[in-house]
Amino acid sequence: MTPPETSLPLGATIGILGGGQLGRMSAMAAARLGYRCHIFAPDADSPGMEVAAAHTLAEYDDVAALHRFADAVDVVTFEFENVPAETLAALEGRVPCRPGTRALAICQDRIVEKRFLAEAGVPVAPWREVTTEAELQAGIAEIGLPAVLKTTRLGYDGRGQAVLRRLEDAAPAFARLSPKPLILEAFVPFTAEISGIAARGLDGTVATYDAIENRHRHHILDLSFAPARLPASAAAAAQAHVAQVATALELVGVVALEMFLLADGSLLGNEIAPRPHNSGHWTMDACHCGQFEQHIRAVAGLPLGSPARHADAVMRNLVGSEGLAAWPGILAQQDVVPHWYGKLEARPGRKLGHANRLLPLDTLHALDDAAATSGL
Ligand SMILES: Nc1ncnc2c1ncn2[C@@H]1O[C@H](COP(=O)(O)OP(=O)(O)O)[C@@H](O)[C@H]1O
Ligand SMILES: [Mg+2]
Repeated sequence: MTPPETSLPLGATIGILGGGQLGRMSAMAAARLGYRCHIFAPDADSPGMEVAAAHTLAEYDDVAALHRFADAVDVVTFEFENVPAETLAALEGRVPCRPGTRALAICQDRIVEKRFLAEAGVPVAPWREVTTEAELQAGIAEIGLPAVLKTTRLGYDGRGQAVLRRLEDAAPAFARLSPKPLILEAFVPFTAEISGIAARGLDGTVATYDAIENRHRHHILDLSFAPARLPASAAAAAQAHVAQVATALELVGVVALEMFLLADGSLLGNEIAPRPHNSGHWTMDACHCGQFEQHIRAVAGLPLGSPARHADAVMRNLVGSEGLAAWPGILAQQDVVPHWYGKLEARPGRKLGHANRLLPLDTLHALDDAAATSGL
């Protein structure tokens, strides 16, 4: 099959806003498809720049640099959703941006995101907008405790949030997080955290990966189990939810949906990431077409690849000094695929790499956690 005429020709340049590991792995996937990448990021210590054909070292509000970047690339994507909306706005009109400003704006604000999820048919836990302490008290009276107070914007890895267990927790949490706009969410007594990952092509086709179960340590993703050990109906619902999100966002690229699994087997949507996601790193080695290749295919207007899983997988994040210490052991495992991001400093909480343990297809469900993670 010849690629559609709207697809980027071989040798074309994909611009990526952001120079972290997601940009790096996207650039590596792009190179394999015959594209060049140009990374735009404000930080010289950007793992993405090491593997890209070109880079621009500039701030996201440097309009002149953004315009030069737009002129130098054929399409623009981003690797993290906290790129200022104005940055993408300065590029749109000069160069195709995939995803565009609408998807970015929805995923940057937890309140807009919650409304969008409900409209897209994904249930969410009760929530209230909070700008004053009186609104917080009223929200607690309506939603009950425990609850979670979060900044509506710029949160990640659990930053910008507080769990309220008693009424006395409300005032100090409000004092710490305000005056930023806040959202109060009911605390969800989840039995597991699940994510779904999908890609949507330029032609509207959606490809969905198997649902994933995620475990966090110190609020940072630690392990992903793929496929999630779920009843078939819940696994299908998780996949359906992320596909609904991809379609409703009219996204071109990869999207992840974080969800909570409840004891009754139902799912609640939590957050959307309009980009390749940490919980999808296992797809690089366990699927026909991994999430980074899929993202580049979408952005380049190519037909999507197959998201089919040819192995079961457990992904471990390698974080901080512990992750650095684990690396030689990871390299010694025959069934583990290592990925290192080339960061210069092993700061606490920093994601330095990940390791994908591959298991024979449809064997993960029979293993306990110790057996599933051995060697990782
Ligand atoms: N409403 C909630 N109820 C229970 N746990 C929550 C709730 N919101 C967040 N959490 C926990 O905190 C983690 C981080 O919250 P999240 O909303 O995903 O923000 P971010 O990943 O941007 O830091 C979640 O993965 C989950 O473990
Ligand atoms: Mg999250």
